[in-house]
Amino acid sequence: MSQSLSSSRRCFSLLILILTIVKTYSSSCSSSSTSFHCPPFNSSPPFPFSTSPGCGHPHFQIQCSSPRATISIKNLTFSLLHYSSLSSSLTLSPQLDSNQNNCSSLRFSSSSPNRFIDLTGSPFRVSDSSCSRLSLLRPCSPLTLPNCSRCPQDCKLLKNPGRILHGCESTHGSLSEQGCQGDLLSFLQDFFTRFGFEVEWDESQDPYFAKCKDCRVKNGVCGFNSTHPRQDFICFSSQRETTTVNNHVAVLCLIFALTCLLLAISVAVAIFRSRRASFLSSVNEEDPAALFLRRHRSAALLPPVFTFEELESATNKFDPKRKIGDGGFGSVYLGQLADGQLLAVKFLHHHHGATAADTEHCKAFSMKSFCNEILILSSINHPNLVKLHGYCSDPRGLLLVHDYVTNGTLADHLHGRKSAMTWRIRLDIALQTALAMEYLHFSITPPVVHRDITSSNIFVEKDMRIKVGDFGLSRLLVFSESTVNSATSSDYVCTGPQGTPGYLDPDYHRSFRLTEKSDVYSYGVVLMELMTGMKAVDQRREKRDMALAELFVSKLQMGLLDQVVDPLIASDDDGGVAAVAELAFRCVAVDKDDRPDAKEIVGELRRIKSRTRVGEDDVAKC
Ligand SMILES: *[C@@H]1O[C@H](CO)[C@@H](O)[C@H](O)[C@H]1NC(C)=O
Ligand SMILES: *[C@@H]1O[C@H](CO)[C@@H](O)[C@H](O)[C@H]1NC(C)=O
Ligand SMILES: *[C@@H]1O[C@H](CO)[C@@H](O)[C@H](O)[C@H]1NC(C)=O
Ligand SMILES: *[C@@H]1O[C@H](CO)[C@@H](O)[C@H](O)[C@H]1NC(C)=O
Repeated sequence: MSQSLSSSRRCFSLLILILTIVKTYSSSCSSSSTSFHCPPFNSSPPFPFSTSPGCGHPHFQIQCSSPRATISIKNLTFSLLHYSSLSSSLTLSPQLDSNQNNCSSLRFSSSSPNRFIDLTGSPFRVSDSSCSRLSLLRPCSPLTLPNCSRCPQDCKLLKNPGRILHGCESTHGSLSEQGCQGDLLSFLQDFFTRFGFEVEWDESQDPYFAKCKDCRVKNGVCGFNSTHPRQDFICFSSQRETTTVNNHVAVLCLIFALTCLLLAISVAVAIFRSRRASFLSSVNEEDPAALFLRRHRSAALLPPVFTFEELESATNKFDPKRKIGDGGFGSVYLGQLADGQLLAVKFLHHHHGATAADTEHCKAFSMKSFCNEILILSSINHPNLVKLHGYCSDPRGLLLVHDYVTNGTLADHLHGRKSAMTWRIRLDIALQTALAMEYLHFSITPPVVHRDITSSNIFVEKDMRIKVGDFGLSRLLVFSESTVNSATSSDYVCTGPQGTPGYLDPDYHRSFRLTEKSDVYSYGVVLMELMTGMKAVDQRREKRDMALAELFVSKLQMGLLDQVVDPLIASDDDGGVAAVAELAFRCVAVDKDDRPDAKEIVGELRRIKSRTRVGEDDVAKC
C-alpha cells in the first residue's frame, strides 16, 4: 500500500507541475494558482474568495496578512479567525480602534451611525448561534455609565447591547440577572478578539453565484469589473489565450489526471477498508445535515445558564446512584434534561460558607470574572475537549454542565477494567491529548492552562477517541472562592486548588505558578501511565518509587525500562515505545525550560506514529 501511496504522490506532484505551466498561459483569474500560505486557509483561498481584485466575488476579496487574513465588509475590516468550507461560514473578529480617552475600543466607523456592525447589503449574515450568544448579553444593574460626552459610543452600547451586531437584538424581554455582565465592554472586547462571531452566506440567495454557475458551464472563470463602481459580474473565458500547444498540454493533462484519479481512488478504497470502523464516525460528524442539527441544537441550548431546579430534576435530586465520577473538584452526576439529552453535571465542592452575598453574584468584581470565564470556556470548541454547555451558580451550589462521554476515563481503562489497549491505541490517545493541549496553549489568546491533566480527566468514547475535560476549572473555583473571601484579592493564581498529587509540576513549589509547562509535566506523567499501565501515585510501591515520574525516570536512566513497560504492549513494540519514553522523560524535566511545548510534542508524536507500522492484528481485523 505504501508503494502505491508514494507513486500517487509522485503522480500528483507532476500534475501540479503541468497545471502550473498551463496556468501561466491562461487568464490571471485561474482557480488553480500555486499555493501560498494565507491563514486561516491552508493554502491559497478557495473560490469565492480571492486575493487579486477582479477575481472571485467582489465581497469576498481578502488580504493575506500575518497572523490572519483580513476581509473588508462595508468599509469595516475584520480578521478571519476561522473558515469552514463545509458550512460556508467564516469567523470574523472586528479590528478594534485604539483606546482613546479611556473609552473602550468598541468603536467602529461604520456608515450607519446607530449600528456598530451592520452586514445588511453584503452576502453575509450573522449565524444563529453567534446571534443568540450576543443577544443574551446585558449589563448588570445598577448600570454604571462612563462619561457620556467623552465616550458616547460606549454609552449607547451599554444602554442597548443588542446594537453591536445588526440583526442580533435581544428578543428576551425579562431576563433574570443571572449571567449578566458586570463589565460588559471589556467582556465584548475580549470576546471579539478571542472568539469573534460567525457569519454565513447562502449561495442560492446571491445573484453573483447564479451568474457564476452559467459561466462555469461555459468553462469560464468568475470575476468582476473592479474598476466599475457597481463591480459588475464578468465571466472570464479561460480559452481566451489558449493556443493549440496549450490544447495538447490540456489533453495530456486530462489523461494524466484521470490516471491519477484512478490510482487515488484505489488507494482511498484500500485505506477506507482498513480504517472503516474509525472513519465511520468522523464521516457522520461531517454530514451537512448533522452539522445543521448541531448548530441549531446548540442555539436552543443557550443561554448557557441552567437553574438549580432544572439540574436537580435532571439528576433525580443528585441521586448517589447517578454519580458517575468523583474528581478533584467535585462529584459528577449523569443528568437527563427534559428533552432527553444526556449530560454530565458536575457539582463543584461547595463554596466555603456560601452567603447571601452569593445571590448578588455577578455584581462583585470576582464573580464577573467568573462569569466571563465560564462564557469563554463554553465557547471553546475542539474535538478532543469536553464541551462545556453551561453552568448554574446558586447559593446551594455551583454546577457545570458538559458533554457526557460514555466509555469511562483513561484511568478506568488503564488501572480499573484493564481493557487490553494496544500500543497503537495508546499512541493515538497520547496524540489526541497533545492536540487538545496544543489547542488550549496555542490556538486561544490568552492561552488557557488546563492545570489538571490526569488520566482521570481524559474521557474515552466508544470508538476510543478521547476528550479532555475540566480545563480551566481550577481557575473557576478560585474565582468563586474569592467572591466570598475578598473581592479585591488579586493574587488568586496562588490560592487555588493545585492539581492532583503525582501530576503536579515540581516547579510549582518554587514559583507558586502553574504555567503551560506545568501542563506539559502532567502530560508527561500521563504518557508514562500509558506506557506502564501503572498509577501516577501508588502507596503500595516503595517510598522512593511511589511517584511514577521518579520510578520511570530512574528505570530509564538505568536502562531498565523493560521492567516497567506494560507487558501487554512490550510485544507489539516496533521502536515507538523507546521514542515515547524519551519524550515523556523530557516532559517531566525539573527545569521547565527544558520541557518541550505542546506543538513540539504533537510534532514528535506524529513522527513516531508515522514510523510505527500498522500492526499485524490491525490488518487481520478487516
Ligand atoms: C466607504 O468609504 C468610502 C470612502 O471613505 C465612501 O466613499 C463609501 O461610501 C463608503 N462605503 C460604504 C458602504 O459605507
Ligand atoms: C484614564 O484613566 C487613568 C487611570 O484610570 C487616569 O489616570 C487618566 O487620567 C485617565 N485619562 C483621561 C484622559 O481621562
Ligand atoms: C465628561 O467629559 C467632558 C469632556 O472630556 C468633561 O468636560 C466633563 O467634565 C466630564 N464630565 C464628568 C462628569 O466627568
Ligand atoms: C469596466 O468598467 C469600466 C467603467 O467603469 C469600463 O470602461 C470597462 O469597459 C469595463 N470593463 C469590462 C471588461 O466590462
